[in-house]
Amino acid sequence: MTVSCNHEGLNRWVKEVAAMCKPARVEWCDGSKEEYDRLMALMVEQGGATPLKKRPNSFAFCSDPSDVARVEDQTYISTPTQDEAGPTNNWMDPDELKPRMLELYDGCMGGRTMYVIPFSMGPVGSPLAKIGVEITDSPYVVCNMHIMTRVGSRVLEVLGTDGEFVPCLHSIGAPLKPGQKDVTWPCAPLEKKYISHFPQENTIWSYGSGYGGNALLGKKCLALRIASAIARREGWMAEHMLILRLTSPEGKQYHIGGAFPSACGKTNLAMLRPTIPGWKVETIGDDIAWMKVGPDGRLYAINPEAGFFGVAPGTSYETNPMAMDTLKENCIFTNCALTDDGDIWWEGMDGPVPSHAIDWKCRDWTPESPEAAAHPNARFTAPASQCPTISPDWENPEGVPIDIFIFGGRRTSVVPLVHEAFNWNHGVFLGATAASETTAANIGAVGNLRRDPFAMKPFCGYNMGDYFHHWFDMGDRLGEKAPRIFYVNWFRQTPDGRWLWPGFGENSRVLKWMCDRVDGTVGAKETPIGLMPEEGGLDISGLDVSAEDMTELLTVDTEAMKAEIPDIQAHFDQFGDRLPGRLRKELGKLKERLERS
Ligand code: OXD
Ligand code: MN
Repeated sequence: MTVSCNHEGLNRWVKEVAAMCKPARVEWCDGSKEEYDRLMALMVEQGGATPLKKRPNSFAFCSDPSDVARVEDQTYISTPTQDEAGPTNNWMDPDELKPRMLELYDGCMGGRTMYVIPFSMGPVGSPLAKIGVEITDSPYVVCNMHIMTRVGSRVLEVLGTDGEFVPCLHSIGAPLKPGQKDVTWPCAPLEKKYISHFPQENTIWSYGSGYGGNALLGKKCLALRIASAIARREGWMAEHMLILRLTSPEGKQYHIGGAFPSACGKTNLAMLRPTIPGWKVETIGDDIAWMKVGPDGRLYAINPEAGFFGVAPGTSYETNPMAMDTLKENCIFTNCALTDDGDIWWEGMDGPVPSHAIDWKCRDWTPESPEAAAHPNARFTAPASQCPTISPDWENPEGVPIDIFIFGGRRTSVVPLVHEAFNWNHGVFLGATAASETTAANIGAVGNLRRDPFAMKPFCGYNMGDYFHHWFDMGDRLGEKAPRIFYVNWFRQTPDGRWLWPGFGENSRVLKWMCDRVDGTVGAKETPIGLMPEEGGLDISGLDVSAEDMTELLTVDTEAMKAEIPDIQAHFDQFGDRLPGRLRKELGKLKERLERS
């Protein structure tokens, strides 16, 4: 199919980029199946993609060992002043960053095809959707974008001759000299990777990495970093949140937005199978929510993505059967192991551990091998439409009305299973102080505690102090119609490392308590940190957790909480004048409540 673009600004940009990056050819993407199949066939022929015998139309890739996760240290919010980016972002003056990157981009696509991908975040034409155009020299990126976004000619029709789009420039940074043989995962060395955002210009420049969050620019770069900056200017919200619909046995629907740091089970929660009889979960999104105040004054959310880019290790029929069913065909697997019978495998998958596999570094692997077969941040890319629990409303252009926000993180101690904010301001405090132990989703040490406000630390495209203000502003606008706010921790352990809470489908018990709170059908006890289930308030019938463990899960450790105050104080202090007074006030109130108890 030939793609014709009548948008002068876009045509001009494509020409400029081609003149700078000097690809061997330029190809406009139409988003068709033919295009996907052709590019996959090309990558199979070149040795980068392995077709899977056990999963129709599915392919495995192994990345370069330097290119396995988002590179937060090399991710920049490049605003004219450092203050606009704030203390939680890496900042570089655009006058320094741009020349540095322009030098890298010069000739960077030599010997390769430059693909132009028009895509929509959100259903094409939805009032909440935004259009982006990604230029890339990676066919792997094109195929992933086909799954993760809506790509193609329909997007150009909506764009028309002068519509707005976010230009997203990506190169793997590995030009080919004439006659040079390609490698299976070309990319630039770690120190040359740059993931740059220019929020004032709504522009993204990414260089040197082919990995998901660094290279599929519609996701973290556009739908979170750039969109969060746009959302603040325009009065809406772009959040790192799953969206799900919970339906009670009586047929009442509740919509939940949940913000958790990377690799804290967002995908599992979005596809939860409730263990409490009669309750049903539908999935709307597993990673990002765009939300606007609707005509009735409530907050409406859409999932801007079209697929799931989920963490594979640990996913099984036991932990997430709906994800496993989603992965049966038409998927891309990155950094998983390959079994001898032509399937993928990862640690934690159901069934016997294979006696032999090829690990993600293409080496022979057996259960005796010292390293894991799949990289801990191995990923699947899967069409959302294949999820058995996908909601009939997941592409509703108007979105769904949010009743409940949940924040949380991975804390092996201190934080109880669930508590509810006293009110919106306290809820913003809970979001602003959220903390989690780090995982493999970002390059760096694993297991350290870091404050990750609203799970947006790596994804907020402007000063986080202003972002906190924006949350208060939204609450003021929503008033009585604001969602209720809760904080959960599924990850409590005993000192000897035993999980206290079974998690997964059993988390439905906690969600049900939240719905009952919204309806006012269940009470709560006041504690220094928030409202918590009363004795018997949480439905634990048939649950295999001892009374002692339940008590432990629902106890507030006042001394441990007090011990965290200096860390919260230091966290707040970094925002200086930009910290909303209301957050300082909430901290003061927390201190008082803890002293009193
Ligand atoms: C993701 C992440 O990939 O948060 O969703 O790292
Ligand atoms: Mn995420």
